[in-house]
Amino acid sequence: MTAYTDSTSEANWQAWQDSWDRQQEFYLPDREERFRVMLDMTEALVGPEPRVLDLACGTGSISARVLRRFPAARCTGVDLDPALLTIARGSFEGDERVEFVSADLTGPEWTRALPHRSYDAVLTATALHWLRLPQLSALYGQLAGVLREGGVFMNADHMPDGSTPRISEAAHAFARIRWERSGAGGSKPWIDWWQRIAGEPELADAVAERYRIFGNPVNGDHADGEVQSAGWHAETLRASGFAEARQVWCSPEDGMVLGLR
Ligand SMILES: C[S@@+](CC[C@H](N)C(=O)[O-])C[C@H]1O[C@@H](n2cnc3c(N)ncnc32)[C@H](O)[C@@H]1O
Repeated sequence: MTAYTDSTSEANWQAWQDSWDRQQEFYLPDREERFRVMLDMTEALVGPEPRVLDLACGTGSISARVLRRFPAARCTGVDLDPALLTIARGSFEGDERVEFVSADLTGPEWTRALPHRSYDAVLTATALHWLRLPQLSALYGQLAGVLREGGVFMNADHMPDGSTPRISEAAHAFARIRWERSGAGGSKPWIDWWQRIAGEPELADAVAERYRIFGNPVNGDHADGEVQSAGWHAETLRASGFAEARQVWCSPEDGMVLGLR
């Protein structure tokens, strides 16, 4: 894999980071609102100087918002994607408050790759639906061991409510209408973004390695069918050693569940 190069300007890293955020917002118009509530609840439960694990961090969007709001915080980002980690490392270069590690969250020993034994907060967004159900249950058990007692876990992700099929279908249909109105029409921002990044000389090798690990997005690179209700997440967290767990935010199609260790 090609590590980021000194010749790549700060402006490039920031531009890729920003284009990632714009691409995610196509799918998640409430993304910043989710992050705001996530940080509010982090401050409420563990204070304004947390040691944060940014789980499945991608380009480090959560870390960026944590450090902007809590300048004395410290972040570890963990992900398996070499291209997204390259952008993350490049855009935070020189900031000693943040470090990134590469690890597979579906493995039994990924926590060994972490630079710290315990964290005040583990935060994750739009990521854990990539895992299969048994992998997610196992991960929740591992997270209980990563958080200190009183620490907080938050997962913001697609969390449909299967008990209200007509409401869910209407919400889904409206999301499609909003998509059309935004001008995105038949475009596929996720695939377009990856194709653009693959054409950047500084990132091409890392993207090729990423395609070997996850597959090419054109052919489908992750599981979207493995989504669970907020109730399932809360129940599984409690069964995994969390003292309390419940939903703390939701939109018609997304939710955020908080587990208190
Ligand atoms: C849609 S991105 C979200 C990234 C970031 N949390 C955000 O909100 O911008 C999903 C992330 O999950 C990561 N991921 C998926 N499966 C993983 C695994 N088994 N181990 C580590 N990271 C994984 C992907 O590499 C990707 O960065």
